[in-house]
Amino acid sequence: MCSFDAVVPGSFDPATNGHVDIIERAARLFRRVIVAVAANGIKQPLFSPEIRVEMLRDACRHLENVSVASFDGLLVDYARSIGARTIVRGLRAVSDFEYELQMAHTNRCLTDEIETIFVPTRTDYSFLSSSIVKEIARLGGSVEGLVPEGVRRRLGDRHE
Ligand code: PNS
Repeated sequence: MCSFDAVVPGSFDPATNGHVDIIERAARLFRRVIVAVAANGIKQPLFSPEIRVEMLRDACRHLENVSVASFDGLLVDYARSIGARTIVRGLRAVSDFEYELQMAHTNRCLTDEIETIFVPTRTDYSFLSSSIVKEIARLGGSVEGLVPEGVRRRLGDRHE
């Protein structure tokens, strides 16, 4: 267990089971994990930052060392303000790598106090994204098993 705190940032519009998997694994590695919801990360979010935070809190209830908050502005500024020394990001496939590496280099260029580490997503979730989940829900499909229960309810999934 690392004695530093870590931040798991994202848009989480909405959180998927892939996100929760990464948060659970970060929680095993770090003393304290702060899930940071970017309030202005995407242009037209389906859910407000407050609802995204609420859904994540519900999905992370079982994790004692995890808290959830939203942030504005630069991620490295937020991480510094809460004393986190590490950014944890999930990697689903090689296609994620370019964007993730660009973000890691950008954050590194902004400060060398904060390190980024990548955690590979479980293969079961390697295809999963918030956009895919929104599309399935929009077109009336079931998102059961893809998202936490609270998210499924918010998406209006009535399949049992
Ligand atoms: O879930 P996402 O949309 O891939 O998360 C991206 C996010 C929110 C982590 C990233 O856009 C971010 O850190 N936004 C905050 C603004 C910032 O710090 N930008 C510079 C680093 S790219």
